[in-house]
Amino acid sequence: MKGDFAEKIVGGRIVPAEAAAVGEAAAILRAGGLVAFPTETVYGLGADATQEAAVARIYAAKGRPAFNPLIAHVENLEAARAQGLFSAEARKLASLFWPGPLTLVLPLAATATVCALVRAGKETIALRTPSHPIALALIEATGRPLAAPSANRSGHISPVAAAHVAQDLGSAVDLILDAGPCPLGLESTIIACLEGPPRLLRPGGLSREAIEDALGVRLDEPTKGKVEAPGMLASHYAPRARLRLDARTLAEDEAGLDFGGIFPCRTNVLDLSPGRDLEEAAANLYSFLRLLDAHRPRCIAVAPVPKTGLGAAINDRLARAAAPRACDPG
Ligand code: TXA
Ligand code: MG
Repeated sequence: MKGDFAEKIVGGRIVPAEAAAVGEAAAILRAGGLVAFPTETVYGLGADATQEAAVARIYAAKGRPAFNPLIAHVENLEAARAQGLFSAEARKLASLFWPGPLTLVLPLAATATVCALVRAGKETIALRTPSHPIALALIEATGRPLAAPSANRSGHISPVAAAHVAQDLGSAVDLILDAGPCPLGLESTIIACLEGPPRLLRPGGLSREAIEDALGVRLDEPTKGKVEAPGMLASHYAPRARLRLDARTLAEDEAGLDFGGIFPCRTNVLDLSPGRDLEEAAANLYSFLRLLDAHRPRCIAVAPVPKTGLGAAINDRLARAAAPRACDPG
């Protein structure tokens, strides 16, 4: 969906992500404003990570609890080393997988310029170098690390198109750079390289298997019962409708999120990947959930998706979207 339509319905300013717009966006960021921008994973809601007041606007716009820290997006490994302390494993992961869908949680460096609010007061910092050319151009033009959570209201489905940002955040954002759909469609994988062996805090667009192959070890899971990435609370990524997981049949009054063509063909059924391709399914996941939810179904039945490779992150998001919604996370 292109910008004009969303602009009419919600009033958020969406502009094509051309060179002039990136220049304007950088000026807005340096002045303390908020700019939504595309990354290879999902759209981010960016602010200058060195300005406390700008970062406070992110929390306000998203309705995000102040205990949930943000990822700082940096141009390259050198810029990252000014913010975080890299262990040998962290260096290896960054050199193999950056730029790309990998976030590293590291001890804060003495030279760090990111403000305390980005870290939610923690002595650690989450860092990532995205591969999307517009994200990289924006970081470079701004000349600062950019704090950027996914550009959705806290707890909602992450945006994979500029129009999704406008629908969720509207005029709370100063500018939305539109570069079309995000190619991966799932957030970055988060690895903590703190004390002890690296730990997987959030499965995402880079598979656990790829990371384990690179390190030559199995990754430790987050400590049981302890939420180490504060954003990983139970309910998240949630559409309005309830979700019914691992469904093999479809009731008359349910919408269907299919995988591999097991549901009957009808207007309120979308197939994540008829050919059972997990990359295609990841890229379609959030936009299909939004499209089905727009019909206001009682429930969305979701066909089983394999749990290997990118399937781990897809299943993680589906489980959180299906979780009870007593608390609103981040
Ligand atoms: O792909 C992505 O990672 C996207 C794009 C925009 O880069 N960003 C994103 O940000 O998904 P957000 O804020 O929606 O998710 C960041 C996650 C949250 O679960 C947060 O709790 C965790 O990272 N996090 C951030 N800083 C952390 C830290 N110092 N320690 C542990 N977890 C941290
Ligand atoms: Mg998010």
